[in-house]
Amino acid sequence: MTDHDAPLNPACTAVVGLQWGDEGKGKIVDLLAASHDLVVRYNGGANAGHTVVVAGVRTALHLVPSGVLHPGKASIIGNGVVVDPHQLIAELDQLNDRGVDTAGVLCSSRAHLVMPWHKDEDAAREQLLHDDATGAAEAIGTTKRGIGPAYADKAHRVTALRVGDLLADPQTLAAKVRTVCRFKNRTLQTFFDGRDPYDPVAITRDLRTVAVRLKPHIIDSFLTLHRALDERRSILFEGANGTLLDVDHGGYPYVTSSNCSALGIGPGTGVPPQRINRIVGIMKAYCTRVGGGPMPTELNNDLGDRIRKQGNEFGTTTGRPRRCGWLDLVALDYAVKLNGCTEIACMLLDVLAGFETLNLCVEYELDGKRTGHFPPDADTIARVKPIYETVDGFTSAITQVRHRADLPDAARRYLSLIEERTGTPIRIVSVGPDREQTIRD
Ligand code: IMP
Repeated sequence: MTDHDAPLNPACTAVVGLQWGDEGKGKIVDLLAASHDLVVRYNGGANAGHTVVVAGVRTALHLVPSGVLHPGKASIIGNGVVVDPHQLIAELDQLNDRGVDTAGVLCSSRAHLVMPWHKDEDAAREQLLHDDATGAAEAIGTTKRGIGPAYADKAHRVTALRVGDLLADPQTLAAKVRTVCRFKNRTLQTFFDGRDPYDPVAITRDLRTVAVRLKPHIIDSFLTLHRALDERRSILFEGANGTLLDVDHGGYPYVTSSNCSALGIGPGTGVPPQRINRIVGIMKAYCTRVGGGPMPTELNNDLGDRIRKQGNEFGTTTGRPRRCGWLDLVALDYAVKLNGCTEIACMLLDVLAGFETLNLCVEYELDGKRTGHFPPDADTIARVKPIYETVDGFTSAITQVRHRADLPDAARRYLSLIEERTGTPIRIVSVGPDREQTIRD
């Protein structure tokens, strides 16, 4: 084999959500982190959430990558993430209090800061949409973590602050904050009638306190990641949210504001795509969604309630009940193609135990015609009707099963139908929340 043919890095893996988020990515990242040297998040912010159990206590993490519980591994917040510095400090403090070493949690200096005005604007925009009498658009149902406005400022440039700005000399930082406050106090005035304007002095003071705490964690992530690649160390890329919420490829405008699919890894980390040779798409055995926007297979009935109850489908970040429905193979196939998945992990299969029959959406009906294509915008997605194939369910509990061959026939058939439709092997099946409750053959 010539140098030219040598594998670039045999263990650079991406973990991405294939639906509307909450697919169970945290469990798979935790599982795969053991065989990687670095874990890197590339998109989103504190809108994401996963729960980890540390010293018997459940802790919800929103910004710190799931790899943090693996001692000796770097957990990197990539440049594509929008970072609420107070949230990051709170998570670091919580982890430290529980005895977790957070020295390996590193944050890109190129990542953008989520500032108070972003959260204020997020809430105000949602309220305005909610109150909008024209009915042209509905509230997105955001997490109100300031995600959209922070990414908008990133595109605006001069009203953005980056993590690296925290390390600037005091005069430079103060000048930047003054500029941003000048814009924010003027542009947001109509939203916040009668309230105090943002005070650049108080905000600079706060950022300088934040800077002291975060300084040891701030890095030039390009250097760190490319040095790791040169040393042939393995990187695990952790996607937040889910492919159908991707700002470019999801059901626009009911999406989040970043590229949640694997396509976001390049811009969100500075690592070129050919470095990644394994892309694990994470799916739930059914569908859930939080917030607004269409979901073709949603069940607004007892069946939906039953899935919600059996799957404990309530949001980690906002606690909102999740909308539940049957598995949508049209949307899943779209997401698998978009990400270039080399394999799938099917999560929460155990939740479907006990249903006599299961429905799989195999096509949509749109304007009287059948289609297997996921439409490019929310208005069209809202008009499709799911066409179901009904298959036998499995009545026995499967949480103790550890080999695919030992699953009930109906469960194995269910998995095979997913593989056939997506042309992609399911290499991991999760049958419970614990690490051990995983089928990997
Ligand atoms: P934002 O990301 O807070 O702006 O919210 C935009 C939409 O994405 C809303 O419908 C949220 O509920 C949804 N969303 C954002 N992050 C997640 C996630 O991690 N899981 C599930 N839904 C999410």
